[in-house]
Amino acid sequence: MKLKALLAVVLSLATAGIASAEGASTTAAQHPEPQQWAWDGVFGKFDRQQLQRGYQVYKEVCAACHGMHLVSFRNLSQPGGPEFTEAQMKAIAASFKVPALNENGEVVERTGIPADRFPSPYPNEAAARAANNNAYPPDLSVIIKARHDGANYVHALITGYSDAPAGFQLLPGLNYNPYFEGHQIAMPAPLVSDGQVTWPEGNPPATKDQMAKDVVAFLTWAAEPKLEERKAMGVQVIIFLLVLSALLYLAYKRLWRDVDH
Ligand code: HEC
Repeated sequence: MKLKALLAVVLSLATAGIASAEGASTTAAQHPEPQQWAWDGVFGKFDRQQLQRGYQVYKEVCAACHGMHLVSFRNLSQPGGPEFTEAQMKAIAASFKVPALNENGEVVERTGIPADRFPSPYPNEAAARAANNNAYPPDLSVIIKARHDGANYVHALITGYSDAPAGFQLLPGLNYNPYFEGHQIAMPAPLVSDGQVTWPEGNPPATKDQMAKDVVAFLTWAAEPKLEERKAMGVQVIIFLLVLSALLYLAYKRLWRDVDH
């Protein structure tokens, strides 16, 4: 009898647990669809053109709200990244205004130089929140690493805005996005129309999806500038181990050739 009562309690608790988990799942983030990325796999590499286009999307769209305080302009011309020419990189640096102090200790703006980092568009967090419905646009330097399945997630997030389903209580100033935990995000859809960015001849059409993929590529490089070096090293290590194994095997054969075993 006692056992039955205990079982009943356990069962009711379990069903309650399942019910509440189901309730929560209505606002749990939707899984991002996996994309094909140029840098996937053992031999993966970045596509330079894509990184350059992605930089342009970042600059013309995302930089209005997000900084990247771990990335310097000079990184843009280093190997393994977008590999802009030195002159292009210097022009990019000069197209940004960065905060500085003048001789009286007052905060002023000056033109960027290659050693500067990508600045935040806001002087401080309070100002950033004041401009964004009290939400804080995070620094994007390592966002791809800071989120689970980062590249697919950010791609899904910035292309995945939709109308809220009927009956969904959307708070004022927030936007519906099923890929965001809780389904409401303070960031308005950043990519709103095809052709929002104009990139040089010879590049694919600037569809929303292409712009999203390219900016994700750029942010992936920003989060891991040594990705190509790391993968190349991995391949070299495997080749080295294969050669070493072959040599050891031959040495073993030779050493034991006169011994019955
Ligand atoms: C108008 C300002 C604005 C623009 C433009 C903008 N964002 Fe945001 N972004 C925000 C704000 C505000 C948040 C914080 C949202 C929140 O916490 O509800 C945010 C959050 C994010 C996040 C973090 C989401 C998370 O999981 O926490 C990512 C990633 C992001 N933005 C990427 C981008 C990219 C990429 C672009 C350019 C294509 C961009 N944003 C353009 C304002 C902006």
